[in-house]
Amino acid sequence: MPIKAPRGTYDIMPPVSRSWQVLEERLKEVARLYGYQEIRTPLFEYTELFERGVGEGTDIVSKEMYTFYDKSGRSLTLRPEMTASCARALIEHSAHTGLLPIKWFYYGPMFRYDRPQSGRYRQFHQFGVEVFGSASPMVDAEVLMMMVQMLKAIGLKEYRLHLNSVGCPSCRDSYRQALLDHIKPFCKELCPDCQQRYQQNPLRVLDCKNPGCHQAITGYPRLLDHLCADCARHYQRVQETLKGHGISFLHDDQLVRGLDYYTNTAFEIHIPGIGAQSAVGGGGRYNGLVKAIDGPDLPGIGFALGLERLLLAMQQNHTLNQHRNGIEVFVAVMEAQYEDIAISILQELRAAGIAADKDYMDRKARAQMKYADKLGAPLVLLVGDEEVKAGFVTVRNMTSKRQVAISRADLIPGIKNLLQQNEEEQA
Ligand code: HAM
Repeated sequence: MPIKAPRGTYDIMPPVSRSWQVLEERLKEVARLYGYQEIRTPLFEYTELFERGVGEGTDIVSKEMYTFYDKSGRSLTLRPEMTASCARALIEHSAHTGLLPIKWFYYGPMFRYDRPQSGRYRQFHQFGVEVFGSASPMVDAEVLMMMVQMLKAIGLKEYRLHLNSVGCPSCRDSYRQALLDHIKPFCKELCPDCQQRYQQNPLRVLDCKNPGCHQAITGYPRLLDHLCADCARHYQRVQETLKGHGISFLHDDQLVRGLDYYTNTAFEIHIPGIGAQSAVGGGGRYNGLVKAIDGPDLPGIGFALGLERLLLAMQQNHTLNQHRNGIEVFVAVMEAQYEDIAISILQELRAAGIAADKDYMDRKARAQMKYADKLGAPLVLLVGDEEVKAGFVTVRNMTSKRQVAISRADLIPGIKNLLQQNEEEQA
């Protein structure tokens, strides 16, 4: 049996890889507009980072981590997310002693031992941003506006933004007690996972999808009513700013998020119609995270978008154009003796920033034209006897089939002109 990619993983093959590049470039461009710089961290970290950062009681840490021991017996874990890694890197490089706030973006693979299904993988990709150093509610609003702008930049205009405040540890303590009191009489009806959550983190019972658990929490107390004055003011300000700038959202009492580090603003963004896994992104504030892993007392906020789910949404909303092979000019060699001339032309084109290629399979002239067509090259440049002797090239537009001659001296401006004309005709 041939070996396949492990369950929950997959290859990103051309031409789909081109769509990934386009998606990543558009998201990076929005991050640039908001003043973010890229951070790259290792794919694995010491396991302790996630245990202490994300929280031992979370599903991610207790059930979904790829943890292994290296040859020296250290426990390492493939990163299930990158917020904890960013906080670790900030402390390690004392980044907080420089200009604040720190604005970072990142993208890359994350690993969770989750049950694979459409939109859910074991190796998946996130594009995320993190801001450290400011507790201002205006940063929360800006981060949310940027997330919405990222969706717009990839053609996704319809979204549902769910927003909640999970308060600070002190308001959460009072809420936790109220919730425990409410759930206690229904405890036996909870699913086994929620029975455990009831002990460790009863807030997570709120977002359980199990109908029995739903029933048990009917009429549950609202976290919003337990927020302390500071947290209530913060949340109010975030909501007002979003409304003032035309960002629609839905206050969602049941949104608690599956990572322990969140404080205050928490959010998720959904795209309707892409299936059960409709959350294309999630995030929130984490004012205690950096301190919890032995760093300074520095507030933070961020989010991560799931790239597989964004691509799915783009496909379904028809905003994903088929991104073709990037070749713009194909150089067809009519006589084998002109191979070297063709290579010089190719190098001249590439040096001028034009994507160009030729045949390397000894195809005859006609087969070369077919090959160029399959590559999707808009222009084919013919190099034959006549051309070489008189110092010009024949250029064929593969759509209109028009042919023109361009002198070798004018090659680059001539080709650029024709490419532009072709693009205008296609538009
Ligand atoms: P998260 O909600 O666990 O948050 O993940 C963010 C997004 O990653 C999800 O909304 C989803 O689109 C995608 N995602 C998560 N798991 C999978 C999976 N198994 N397969 C495919 N896509 C998945 C975090 O990871 C936080 N670190 C976000 C954050 C940044 N909070 C503050 N800063």
